[in-house]
Amino acid sequence: MLLWSLVSTHVWGPGSVLLILVFLLRLSVRLWYKCHLWDLQHCCTDLTGKTAVVTGATSGIGKAVSQELARRGARVILACRNRERGQWALAEIQAASKDACLLLGEVDLSSMASIRSFAQWLLQECPEIHLLVNNAAVCGLPKKLTPEGLDLTFATNYVGPFLLTNLLQGALQRAGSARVVNVSSFMHTSGYIDEEHLTGAGRPLTFNQNYYCSKLLLTSFTGELARRLQGTGVTVNSVHPGVVYTKIMNQFPWSYRFLFWLSSFFIKDPQQGANPILYVSLAKELDGISGKYFSSSCVITLPHKAAQDPHVAQSLWNASVKLTHLNKAD
Ligand SMILES: NC(=O)c1ccc[n+]([C@@H]2O[C@H](COP(=O)([O-])OP(=O)(O)OC[C@H]3O[C@@H](n4cnc5c(N)ncnc54)[C@H](OP(=O)(O)O)[C@@H]3O)[C@@H](O)[C@H]2O)c1
Ligand SMILES: *[C@@H]1O[C@H](CO)[C@@H](O)[C@H](O)[C@H]1NC(C)=O
Ligand SMILES: *[C@@H]1O[C@H](CO)[C@@H](O)[C@H](O)[C@H]1NC(C)=O
Repeated sequence: MLLWSLVSTHVWGPGSVLLILVFLLRLSVRLWYKCHLWDLQHCCTDLTGKTAVVTGATSGIGKAVSQELARRGARVILACRNRERGQWALAEIQAASKDACLLLGEVDLSSMASIRSFAQWLLQECPEIHLLVNNAAVCGLPKKLTPEGLDLTFATNYVGPFLLTNLLQGALQRAGSARVVNVSSFMHTSGYIDEEHLTGAGRPLTFNQNYYCSKLLLTSFTGELARRLQGTGVTVNSVHPGVVYTKIMNQFPWSYRFLFWLSSFFIKDPQQGANPILYVSLAKELDGISGKYFSSSCVITLPHKAAQDPHVAQSLWNASVKLTHLNKAD
């Protein structure tokens, strides 16, 4: 009451009241996250001698994940499509932890040719890979075909990780025990599966539905890959980081971006967004857990029905093998 009478006097005015309310709200959001995020500090997983690959490490969640992995002693391959942005991220992470062992790799996940040459280079550099985080993604893009005849959004968010994961399978298995983590999104539940989308055909998609559908495909694959890798020591899971303020909305119209900016005060920052991904990557209690989808509160959750159907997943796998010309020699 006293506070209220104090702030509502003319000296303070309604503007300040609003400011204080916003501040208090922000504080409670902070506290809420503090209590609900996985306790990273108490996880003692040490990654010395381990190799981790993070795609899309130039910004947002990918950069935050890479930084924590490097801090724990891993040799981290920052897989970026733009060399200059990659070098910036590398310098930033190096500055934050002096002993970080980082390597920059160039890969455009929307291009199968680029992924193949990246994988070839990577397998020479690192015959064993202990962790692969499929994090890079785009959203808000209109339908557009890549020179290889794939839809750009589906190529980047689904076909790219599919091909990369498969090409690195040998190195993951050689590591003895390895994890694959796909960064999905809760928005995958608004998608549906139509394999024709991969090549820009199929049922028409409304604005940003290509993002939802591509994330659904990614989630569907968790199950299929897990089934295929059973008993190899490689586990695969997907996870939703939560709603995080990053440059993911850069392709959206300015009105969306403005709303996103306004909300930035109340949603996660990239470090907090990295938390569920780090949980799935590091937590000891997840040894042997595979084929699951984790919510942003680090809880195993059932994904969209379509992503639970093994027949759909197998058919999608077959279509993806054909599209990427994946064969036994890979
Ligand atoms: N932010 C959220 O609220 C939210 C919610 C749910 C899920 N996610 C997921 O979290 C992941 C990380 O997103 P973010 O929020 O950190 O977004 P971000 O800041 O936009 O980061 C995306 C990263 O992906 C890279 N990338 C995009 N296209 C690429 C390509 N063709 N080849 C290689 N790299 C490419 C970007 O590289 P450049 O620097 O070259 O652009 C960037 O490093 C994504 O999988 C996203 O779907 C985010
Ligand atoms: C990740 O997604 C790729 C396809 O994009 C798939 O091959 C792989 O099985 C998925 N792994 C996980 C952990 O979901
Ligand atoms: C996928 O391909 C395999 C091997 O070619 C085949 O046995 C299986 O029936 C196919 N699955 C679906 C659902 O198309």
